[in-house]
Amino acid sequence: MYASPSPLPEADRAALVAALNARLADGLDLHSQIKVAHWNIKGPHFATLHPLFETFAIALAAFNDRIAERAITLGGLAHGTARHVARASTLADYPEGTTRDLVHVELLAARIEQYLAGVRAARKEAVERGDDDTEGLLTEVVTAFEMHAWFLRATLGG
Ligand SMILES: [Fe+2]
Repeated sequence: MYASPSPLPEADRAALVAALNARLADGLDLHSQIKVAHWNIKGPHFATLHPLFETFAIALAAFNDRIAERAITLGGLAHGTARHVARASTLADYPEGTTRDLVHVELLAARIEQYLAGVRAARKEAVERGDDDTEGLLTEVVTAFEMHAWFLRATLGG
């Protein structure tokens, strides 16, 4: 572990760096899956969903950056190459042959929900280790992506 401006003990910082890197791997994987959906979507909802998926990707890219930089701030390293992500992500792979608009909506809704489960678990760890600032960052992620999951589930009529 590297020096950190955080007053947390090193063992807590190390655990939080690991939790943040796990969420970063999922977030980078999810970002690539959202872009694949954005590019390949076809069907009557194209005009709405193609730009909607891009707003998700932009929001997630910003959160991925902040999660990586929080890991560094806590004295760790951030791992995020495509090869690392392929090994470390906990999300289901994306069926890349998918084109139909509402199938993409269902696939992305399920993956956002998987992503959120990991982020909530990391937030719980931040609470237990007394890191209000990591907790706050992860609450922002949960709030934004629960809303995105709602957009998708509402599109499906659920
Ligand atoms: Fe685009």
